[in-house]
Amino acid sequence: MEHLKNIIRDIPDFPKAGILFRDITPLLADAESLRETVNALVAPYRDAGITAIAAMEARGFIFGGLAADALGTGFVPLRKPGKLPYETISESYDLEYGAASLEIHADALDERDTVLLIDDLIATGGTAVASCRLVERLGARVAGLAFIIELDGLNGRSALADYHVHSLVHY
Ligand code: PRP
Ligand code: ADE
Repeated sequence: MEHLKNIIRDIPDFPKAGILFRDITPLLADAESLRETVNALVAPYRDAGITAIAAMEARGFIFGGLAADALGTGFVPLRKPGKLPYETISESYDLEYGAASLEIHADALDERDTVLLIDDLIATGGTAVASCRLVERLGARVAGLAFIIELDGLNGRSALADYHVHSLVHY
């Protein structure tokens, strides 16, 4: 899947000086690349008994929704603070370029669920670890985490040593 790098655009110094931003919008705009990407993301999990896809706002929602359709599961949004209307639980974490929190509805999952987490990119792994905690605090099991892009230098994978991690391209 390394050929996806040909359609991922590099933007220096966004959103801050020193960050090389990996822009997936050209991939999203190309129907064939988008379909191939979603199929490759879910391929290892087709027989894993996944009952729900959970994905992180905002870029994770794009691939998470398509992945839920591909696996025939429901979709659970992990949202930035103050966006979910019902009772929530929350986790805070650090980012490559700041700090943030994510929330999940308290009744979104339970111990009967086997969850695949989806995001566009793993950098430090802070978002992914917080997402695993949210899912597990509701009693569900994380079967794996799938990303389009893994930034190897930021070592996010080491924060997820207890989980199955699947990434399509590495920088
Ligand atoms: C980006 C990306 C991942 C996260 C990865 O999201 O989509 O969710 O950073 O970084 P980490 O591994 O260091 O946690 P961002 O918070 O920028 O939000 P967005 O999807 O709303 O652009
Ligand atoms: N999220 C965290 N780091 C990123 C990067 N370098 N490019 C795109 N999204 C990111």
